[in-house]
Amino acid sequence: MSEDLKASYLADLQTVTTLQELAQLKAKYLGKKGVVTLQLKTLGALSAEERPHAGKRINELKEAIESLSEAKEVELTHQELAKRLASESIDITLPGKTTGIGRAHPISTVLNEIIDIFVRLGFSVEEGPEVELDHYNFEALNIPKDHPARDMQDTFYVSDDVVLRTHTSPVQVRVMERQKPPLRFIAPGKVYRCDADVSHTPMFHQVEGLVVDTHITFSNLKGVLVSFVHQMFGPQVPVRFRPSFFPFTEPSAEIDIGCILCDAKGCRVCKGSGWLEVMGAGMVNPKVLEFGGIDPELYTGFAFGMGVERITMLKYRIDDIRLLFENDLRFLRQF
Ligand code: DAH
Repeated sequence: MSEDLKASYLADLQTVTTLQELAQLKAKYLGKKGVVTLQLKTLGALSAEERPHAGKRINELKEAIESLSEAKEVELTHQELAKRLASESIDITLPGKTTGIGRAHPISTVLNEIIDIFVRLGFSVEEGPEVELDHYNFEALNIPKDHPARDMQDTFYVSDDVVLRTHTSPVQVRVMERQKPPLRFIAPGKVYRCDADVSHTPMFHQVEGLVVDTHITFSNLKGVLVSFVHQMFGPQVPVRFRPSFFPFTEPSAEIDIGCILCDAKGCRVCKGSGWLEVMGAGMVNPKVLEFGGIDPELYTGFAFGMGVERITMLKYRIDDIRLLFENDLRFLRQF
């Protein structure tokens, strides 16, 4: 009887493929209502002579089933582990997914370069609001309401008294109001004009500069700006100061550099002249010093203003300003 049971157990064991099935099989034989357990219960019906013998055989069967189950359990555990390891394994030789590293926008790069040059020349950095009072953007810079110079800048009006600043020059007056001379600072930032074509965008960047002290002269202006141009574009680049007009400076000048695209021979970009305009400058108009609360009898100063996009376009030979704002990565990745 117990030999038959052992054979049928072995046959069942062949079909077991998981630990769960093994547990079920064990219960079928050794569980409370298992076939072996039921056999043990029949012992009571046997005679005293038969009982020890039969009991021994059943116990041997029980032990055999237990040790066979244990061996099978070890085998299945190994199998399942091997299966899991195979399916969950990571191929560390596959190439990884790389996240691209960003880079600075060319305007930021050039703006930081400009700031670095002036900081090395002893300038500090100041800021002013982009939504500006008409007073600072125009009036205090000697551009009254009916002045024709207002037509030079196509202004976005927020209300009658409030504009989006059309230049960084208003920062001159704001800083003069809150600091005493000597003043020597630049004011970089965004400015806005209602204008759009290959060389104009409604928002662009300027860097303003102001120096106010006793005995500041035009030669100080020249020294600082020639040094800037040479650091920015190279020491061999010629610089020229051309008389001009700005309401907030007197005298005023426009600063040209020898065309860096054609070596001043004359090309499409410099319109055949060999010169490129890079900024405006001049000696601060005494009226502007007065608006800033500074006595023009004691102090003089010079100021300058430049467009960052223009310098970026010259440096990198970009012929359409709109490329700088389209955020096309094929364009931006070149810098
Ligand atoms: N604010 C002028 C503009 O936007 C640029 C400028 C010219 C600034 C001469 C100055 C200056 O400080 O002295 O066109």
